[in-house]
Amino acid sequence: MGKSTFDTKALLAKMTLEEKVGQLIQLNAGFIGKSVAEITGPLQSFGFDNTMLPYVGSTLNFHGVEEMKAIQDKHMAEDRLHIPLVFMMDIIHGYRTIYPIPLARGASFDPDLVTECSKMAAKEGSAGGVQVTFTPMVDYVRDARWGRVMETCGEDPYLNGVMGAAQVRAFQGDDISDPDHMAACVKHFAAYGGAEAGRDYNTVEISERLLREYYFPAYKACIDAGVTMLMPSFNSLNGVPSIANEWLLQDVLKKEWKFDGVVISDYNAIGELKRHGITGDAKEAARMAFENGCDIDMMSVGYGNHLAELVREGTISEEKIDEAVLKVLELKKALGLFEDPYHGASEEKEKALCLCEEHREIARRAAEESAVLLKNNGILPLPKNVKKLALIGPFADNQEIRGSWGCNGKTEDCTSMYMGIRNLLPDAEITVCRGCSNYFDEIGEEEFEEAARIASEADAVILCLGEPQKYSGEGNSRADITLPGVQDALARKVIAANANTAVVLFNGRPLVLKELDAIAPAILDMWFPGTEGGNAAARLLFGDANPSGKVTMSFPKATGQCPIYYNHPSTGRPKRYPEDQHQPYASSYIGCGNLALYPFGHGLSYSNFVYESMELDRTSMTKGEKIAVTIRVRNDSDRAGKEVVQLYMHDLYASTVRPIQSLIGFKKVEIGAGETATVTFEVTEPMLRFYDAKCNFVSEAGEFTLSTGYADNLLFTQSFFLNE
Ligand code: GLC
Repeated sequence: MGKSTFDTKALLAKMTLEEKVGQLIQLNAGFIGKSVAEITGPLQSFGFDNTMLPYVGSTLNFHGVEEMKAIQDKHMAEDRLHIPLVFMMDIIHGYRTIYPIPLARGASFDPDLVTECSKMAAKEGSAGGVQVTFTPMVDYVRDARWGRVMETCGEDPYLNGVMGAAQVRAFQGDDISDPDHMAACVKHFAAYGGAEAGRDYNTVEISERLLREYYFPAYKACIDAGVTMLMPSFNSLNGVPSIANEWLLQDVLKKEWKFDGVVISDYNAIGELKRHGITGDAKEAARMAFENGCDIDMMSVGYGNHLAELVREGTISEEKIDEAVLKVLELKKALGLFEDPYHGASEEKEKALCLCEEHREIARRAAEESAVLLKNNGILPLPKNVKKLALIGPFADNQEIRGSWGCNGKTEDCTSMYMGIRNLLPDAEITVCRGCSNYFDEIGEEEFEEAARIASEADAVILCLGEPQKYSGEGNSRADITLPGVQDALARKVIAANANTAVVLFNGRPLVLKELDAIAPAILDMWFPGTEGGNAAARLLFGDANPSGKVTMSFPKATGQCPIYYNHPSTGRPKRYPEDQHQPYASSYIGCGNLALYPFGHGLSYSNFVYESMELDRTSMTKGEKIAVTIRVRNDSDRAGKEVVQLYMHDLYASTVRPIQSLIGFKKVEIGAGETATVTFEVTEPMLRFYDAKCNFVSEAGEFTLSTGYADNLLFTQSFFLNE
């Protein structure tokens, strides 16, 4: 451990052109360490020129430390200069001990918890042979139809940035050669979450002003936190695919943000320039991407088949190749791979750390803190002395709750809802009935009748609904984000049979729950909670844990409201009528309101938090001054709990339209039964800045308001003035 003194420049000087280009190629582990004969089929169908195979410098999608060691040993023995491979993987929400998906962890509003989870994942993953993780994904989102909203922290740029930076620091620590840490890679730059119609990989057309205001801040926060690598996105941005987008990767990333880390393409993104219609020539695609600053080509044939040729013909200078290669060698040096090609990984460590009790406890706590109690008429928490309990629905005893990007996590590691309740209440009489299939669509009336009968005979019912994991994650966008299949009908049947029914949700995105909300006495959203999901859900349902999560992405009342987000401008004709009334000649829908069913920042607790006051120490300031905001919250209950105290700002009049509410601060505080917490924030002029019509980052004098509470439900709104 500690800073390597390996002389990368001396190594570079010994390398042939092919060896240099090899360092800029990343292939799946399945292609590495095999003989050409073994892999000729896949590679040749893939179109890769096998001559470059021996020189490949990094790999991904391997499984476990044994495979890593075998590949590394073979490669280094065969490589003329014994240059170690670097092993990369997507550790998005855990390596083997899986914690809640990022959309859920964002809902915890607890950066320390996110840090704890990421540190745990770094230890497990590093022990398992991972040296770089393609994390954090911080794509800003507004459209829950997109399958990858599960990977983000939602619709607020500030929260996204806080959580992204926390993950970078946690994974990387102070020294990425430390076997408990690894390099991080922020992705997907940029605005992948802005795919039109929420359809994955779709085109993105967003003004520079909006990019800078909403989509860029989280990437920049991760770069400011010292992230080692960056991955451009698949999508075209304003007509040019990110990987070939000079404005994005040269003007913004390199010149303006001074990012000098390693840039790695997404999977075959260079090859996809052809499908985008940018160039039909793989060699031209390679040239464009390389000259645009993409250092490593992940799983396309571009660099492997054409980069050396582009140098030999004089199109690309060898000096430019050397610069990119040196960045990759420096990455390997920073990881300590020249001294220890295993980066401290070992079978013993991997076995000792993965799924250990300490890590399961972290995962369980994360699942508890990330859950959002969307609705509760008081039936939750359920009494632990319940005699006859019915567990009904496709998630009643379903271990497929890891969520997408489960890395090396296994379904059989996960505690289902039933297993969690059995662990908590070993003596309770529990009857389980799916009510409908795990894929939510096959349904026989007999299953409904069976579910209704079991419900009617129970003292309490836990109805376990949601969407299957296969409807969430990459490539899994949905045009209708209601509860899949017949679950609404099942809910009507079961709740009619027993009003003492609590609903638990397992989902990777905000769902349209309008029908369910109208009939369910309580709804607890567990998202995809990971390995300990069932245990966490059971503790929350029966009061051993107190819900504290808050919505980070608006729950629409109808899919047709998408994209819907809290931090929107007013428009010239804002709706003034009641939610359920269409207002002619106003920004309004017929048959649906404008507001979210559950807005950003919403989340209930078993405690009763009463917001008593919000005070400003002054009502005007100039640049360089600050306003102190003091908020008092009383826990008017007999149960301690955690509350996320939120601070919102509104710039009433400015040269460009401003959001009617923007989160500018949050603090999660524990408040004892009957106690009062005082939470303070400082508001300074930089927090009021925005991008004007010319994309200047400015604040403008005038009237602002500050509020607490949560989106669309602001409290104690007070004005202050920023003076020239
Ligand atoms: C995928 C994803 C990206 C991931 C990469 C490697 O297609 O877009 O997020 O890091 O490929 O698995």
